[in-house]
Amino acid sequence: MEKGKTRDGYCLGIESTADDFSVGIATFKGEILANVISAYIPPEGGIHPREASRHHAEVASKVLEEAFRKACIKPRDLAVIAFSQGPGLGPCLRTGAAVARALASYLHVPLVGVNHCVAHIEIGKLKAGAKDPVTLYVSGGNTIVAAFDAGRYRVFGETLDIALGNCLDVFAREAGLKQKPGEPFGAIVEKLAKSGKRLVPLPYAVRGMDMSFSGLLTAAIKALQKGDYKLEDLCYSLQETAFSMVVEVTERALAHTEKKEVLLTGGVAANRRLQEMVRFIAEEHNAKFCTVPSEYAIDNGAMIAWTGVLAFTHGITTPIEKSYVRLKWRLEEVEVPWMK
Ligand code: ATP
Ligand code: FE2
Repeated sequence: MEKGKTRDGYCLGIESTADDFSVGIATFKGEILANVISAYIPPEGGIHPREASRHHAEVASKVLEEAFRKACIKPRDLAVIAFSQGPGLGPCLRTGAAVARALASYLHVPLVGVNHCVAHIEIGKLKAGAKDPVTLYVSGGNTIVAAFDAGRYRVFGETLDIALGNCLDVFAREAGLKQKPGEPFGAIVEKLAKSGKRLVPLPYAVRGMDMSFSGLLTAAIKALQKGDYKLEDLCYSLQETAFSMVVEVTERALAHTEKKEVLLTGGVAANRRLQEMVRFIAEEHNAKFCTVPSEYAIDNGAMIAWTGVLAFTHGITTPIEKSYVRLKWRLEEVEVPWMK
């Protein structure tokens, strides 16, 4: 049977919180028909929000067309449009929201504003077959340990300053490493860390259930500049220290909630060493270790489309006048009626 003709409803999801512009198409049954991602790579340095948003505006129509082509459906087949409403970078979010509003108005279909962090958890559950996990979500902009309780995903622990992925990226840039398309800094650090042997003492900062990575980053950069250690050893030590921090908090959340699954997601979830460490604590607590293919762990439109389906089929829509972007929209502010 032809792919696009067999389902009862389709949701198109637009993701544009940071450096990726992505469009996904999901059926109401949870099949992902398309997930097209266009990543913005800055010529040098970190992401400049306005330049990233320009990239998003430039690629939007091409990415949309490709998503429709891959899904074998037409715009008129859509039942609902979802978009990442926050948290994220203002100019980037606004570009995605504008595309979503235009499409929804033109097609006369409802709009759903999706929380980006909820979407990471939902696609993780869908793709890894988890039902009610403790989630460790680690990316360039977020470091969150969360679990469902009383109608919402509660944040058990988070970073007090920079995110884990950002810590790896800044260290890699300071070390003069060069990023190639499709090769994130974190992956380069991971490769170098494999030949590291010596554990350099670096500050380990867990405060209650929260974490801090900026002191660790500064110490690692200082050690690098002093030239007393091999880069491989520093990459290895940075990973071991930072990963132990997130794993400690995840383990405590697991012990406290007594959940039976641990879900690892976000761009840093691609790291094999981190996977190994999280798997270890999951097994210690008789919980299932779940992780997602990288295409669905990084920022992607499919997660917005699927969360849009969950929200829409539980009566949630976002009127255009309430579709303003929410730069600091926190995970625990969002009700998730589909989990009840
Ligand atoms: P968010 O908006 O959710 O914060 P993001 O914009 O940071 O996401 P992601 O693609 O989810 O985007 O995550 C990117 C991060 O993942 C970068 O910091 C990158 O270095 C890191 N990363 C990617 N691959 C690896 C790896 N193999 N090991 C460690 N980190 C990795
Ligand atoms: Fe993300």
